[in-house]
Amino acid sequence: MNERLESIKDKIERFEIKAKEQVDQYRLQFLSKKGELNDLFEQFKTIPNDQKKDIGLKLNNIKKLAQEKLDEALLIFTESTNKSINNLVDFTLPAETTFSGTRHPLNQVENEIITIFKKLGFVYHEGPEIEDDWHNFSALNFPKNHPARDMQDTFFISEDIALRTHTSSVQVRLMEKQKPPIRAIMPGRVYRNEAVSARANCFFHQIEGIFIDENVSFADLKQTLYYFVQELFGNDVNVRFRPSYFPFTEPSAEMDISCLLCKGKGCNVCKYTGWLEILGCGMIDPNVLKASNIDPEKYSGFAFGMGIERIAMLKFEVKDLRTYFNNDTRFLKQFESI
Ligand code: PHE
Repeated sequence: MNERLESIKDKIERFEIKAKEQVDQYRLQFLSKKGELNDLFEQFKTIPNDQKKDIGLKLNNIKKLAQEKLDEALLIFTESTNKSINNLVDFTLPAETTFSGTRHPLNQVENEIITIFKKLGFVYHEGPEIEDDWHNFSALNFPKNHPARDMQDTFFISEDIALRTHTSSVQVRLMEKQKPPIRAIMPGRVYRNEAVSARANCFFHQIEGIFIDENVSFADLKQTLYYFVQELFGNDVNVRFRPSYFPFTEPSAEMDISCLLCKGKGCNVCKYTGWLEILGCGMIDPNVLKASNIDPEKYSGFAFGMGIERIAMLKFEVKDLRTYFNNDTRFLKQFESI
């Protein structure tokens, strides 16, 4: 038995596998059911028990050796097969295009707006979407009976906690943390308890801006926003400010731009007024500064807030707000190259 083992080991070692066909030949000769090794395993059953340990060990080692040689050969010859297939590929053919995804249009508009304000020295700031009454309402001078504090308008989580209804809450957080001069731009998602339609949704996105320093005036507010509109929509767009009301600004205004579609002549998008409302703004109410421990005798500031969906709808002439949230790739793909 020992001699047979030595001779088969020798044969395995000397078998040269030089071509693909020989791999199978080798496997058949040594490792198949009818192969030489199996034959030895059959004989092994008949040897005396006291030799089993020694012979069994040798036999197993030879089988291992044979298997390793086969694995190695398979690796070499399968690889070279691939190589020959590769030779058939025409690398000069144009590649198939793959759709790699795009930035969401709202994200693109948001980034564009942020970039414009960054040029003016505004820094980026974020705040939480789940807010307490203080930051969303009280510190912003909302009276106790203001309709925004109503369940019909706001998603309350508990009596004191709600999903923020505007990014103005981030102003408060920043004013509490940082002393003037403050110049910041604060984008984020906001929530309102509204019926979903082509023009309204239960959540949307806003960008808030504040500028607080000594001697900041309404003229600074107007000039900043005028510059912003020209950068975003081009030089031939006009702006106008209409008096308005927000609890946290005094005086307050809404800013309109001349209609982008009809250039102010009147069309159904601007409801034949020639103007489109794009943001709310005003001088920060002294009560709001005081609530965040900023001295209103020394400092003044302006704030503004705008809806990103509204601006994106005007820019891309999108008529239904819901298309921004349906994740329909046919819609999203249109913004691929922007
Ligand atoms: N927070 C206001 C809104 O949601 C917008 C606004 C921000 C108005 C800052 C004035 C100043 O409508």
